[in-house]
Amino acid sequence: MARIAALAALSEQPDGLTRTYLTPQHQQANELVAGWMQEAGLHARIDAAGNVVGRREGREPGLPCLMLGSHLDSVRNAGVYDGMLGVVTAIECVAALGDTPLPFAIEIVGFGDEEGVRFQATMLGSRAVAGTFDPALLDLTDRDGVPMREAMARFGLDPTRIGEAARRREDVLAYVEYHIEQGPVLEDEGLPVGVVTAINGQARFRLTFEGMAGHAGTVPMGLRRDALAAAAECVLVAERLAGERPQAVATVGQASVSPGATNVIPGAVVLSLDVRAPDDGVRDALAADILAACEATCAKRNVRLACERTHQLGSCACAPWLRGQLAAAVAAEGHPVRELPSGAGHDAMAMAALADVAMLFLRCERGISHHPAEAITAEDAAIGARVFARFIAGFTAGRGGA
Ligand code: GLV
Ligand code: MN
Ligand code: MN
Repeated sequence: MARIAALAALSEQPDGLTRTYLTPQHQQANELVAGWMQEAGLHARIDAAGNVVGRREGREPGLPCLMLGSHLDSVRNAGVYDGMLGVVTAIECVAALGDTPLPFAIEIVGFGDEEGVRFQATMLGSRAVAGTFDPALLDLTDRDGVPMREAMARFGLDPTRIGEAARRREDVLAYVEYHIEQGPVLEDEGLPVGVVTAINGQARFRLTFEGMAGHAGTVPMGLRRDALAAAAECVLVAERLAGERPQAVATVGQASVSPGATNVIPGAVVLSLDVRAPDDGVRDALAADILAACEATCAKRNVRLACERTHQLGSCACAPWLRGQLAAAVAAEGHPVRELPSGAGHDAMAMAALADVAMLFLRCERGISHHPAEAITAEDAAIGARVFARFIAGFTAGRGGA
């Protein structure tokens, strides 16, 4: 809990936690975590994408690894456990192993970007490790117009070498991530931990509405092309259509209004749209329905609409053989085994391109996350760490371990 507090203090805002990719605060977090890794007996380094990576050799040097980890970046005004808990707990679990020789190496990764806040493209750190980082992403700019390639250079990285962060399949036995649930299910059932079955897929879009700015006092209502009124109708359409499909969700989380003056009819609006569902077909159909309804709304209002897909990740199944080993560790620690899906996105989704993946969830208070009120208890943190440590110490490579 003290380490979480130390990481939470490294923030871009004075009164809460915001830490985004390739910032000075990211660099400080990497240094802090690398120090803890060294103390725990891991060899720590910063990879070509700015992830901090710690390695503990197995019985002999160079063995393939069990990879553990989560992310060190946050959303704006974030909770302090999302991502960070998985990194600090993995370090604690490896420290607890002491000198016990294991038939596999262990690596812990603190990914530099999962949330995608700065460049609007998510999981940049884990995509780089999985070998699926598209170099075209280097041209994305942050809200100050700084291209990612320049931010990397300022961070001390060479953007032309980002491919070197990619790992070889044969070197990674599995990727297993420990994370707060970010939902209310475990708390509701009185359970401290849960084993994730699958992670919902997600699609994100940028919707640009172009109407006509004008004088708020002189243009009669019937002659307006108000981009914000059209966008507002589209927000409600997304809410209604997602609500009609069980387990699907749609969120408009960002809106920018131009020119943004009290006495000017909004001429342009940009919205973000995030659509998720356990089933990729359901998600794609929902997204298509929302976009079609937005088109119809805009046509009726004589507002031009441009839709751009900014992000897409398929749903990701956790490997049964790893789920079995996590469930065995949960049971051995004396807790009922509860399996549940993840509505939130995780680095494990990107890592699935490299290795079989699985996740262990820890109960959090009222399911609150992506909010400063995000909370866990120290008792639960200890329970989760014991389960995770047991899983690591007993890990058996290969599907035969199911
Ligand atoms: C990441 O936290 C996401 O699910 O958006
Ligand atoms: Mn998050
Ligand atoms: Mn997270």
